[in-house]
Amino acid sequence: MRQHVNPLSSNFIQTERIPSLSEMFGDSKLNLHLDIGCASGEFLFDLALVNTSWNYLGIEIREKLVNNARLKMLEREIKNLYFVFGNANNILNNVQSEFIIKNLKSISFNFPDPWFKKRHHKRRVVQPEFINILSNSLQKGTLIFIKTDVKDLFDYMDCTLSSNFYFKTIDKKNFNFSESFNPNNVKTNREKYVIFNQLDIFEKIYIKI
Ligand SMILES: C[S@@+](CC[C@H](N)C(=O)[O-])C[C@H]1O[C@@H](n2cnc3c(N)ncnc32)[C@H](O)[C@@H]1O
Repeated sequence: MRQHVNPLSSNFIQTERIPSLSEMFGDSKLNLHLDIGCASGEFLFDLALVNTSWNYLGIEIREKLVNNARLKMLEREIKNLYFVFGNANNILNNVQSEFIIKNLKSISFNFPDPWFKKRHHKRRVVQPEFINILSNSLQKGTLIFIKTDVKDLFDYMDCTLSSNFYFKTIDKKNFNFSESFNPNNVKTNREKYVIFNQLDIFEKIYIKI
């Protein structure tokens, strides 16, 4: 399976219909977390099975991964989990998805593709325009979690978020993880690999003010 797809390809301009929250979830009133670039969704499966008082939504640009995750979700009859296929930037830039942004309690960007070459930086999922869209529609108090093992990417994401007036950093030491979308500190697949190989992890939490 292809590891990388170019998110700027015209294939992703047209986005699929986004169902309403009550079509996505058994109980649409639960706290909603969005994981951007969820790959095969294993992280979200682990979370959804343990934290039944949260709804988990994953967006992933590799269609086959999304199709497999959806099948698994249906087979297991998990009602607090949903997957959307496409480029998260295009999906959330669409006025028809504004209800998703408005209902979020938190968003995670876990180990996004680094796109190392400078000329490819525009393919990175965290972009100033995208962060503006989020800051315009997110409710006050919504949290954004970023995590990566690439220092240059971390600095880039941190600079992009910190340059937006509406996002303030939260000190991890004073953060109550037990009330977050991930109270049990579940790890993503990339995170497990990074820990196994004893690489650094750079992470930060922001709050919409
Ligand atoms: C390095 S993988 C990390 C996967 C997972 N979050 C983890 O921590 O194991 C990055 C994922 O983001 C997806 N991705 C990259 N750009 C995207 C975009 N614009 N919208 C949605 N998904 C994207 C990739 O296809 C890939 O599955």
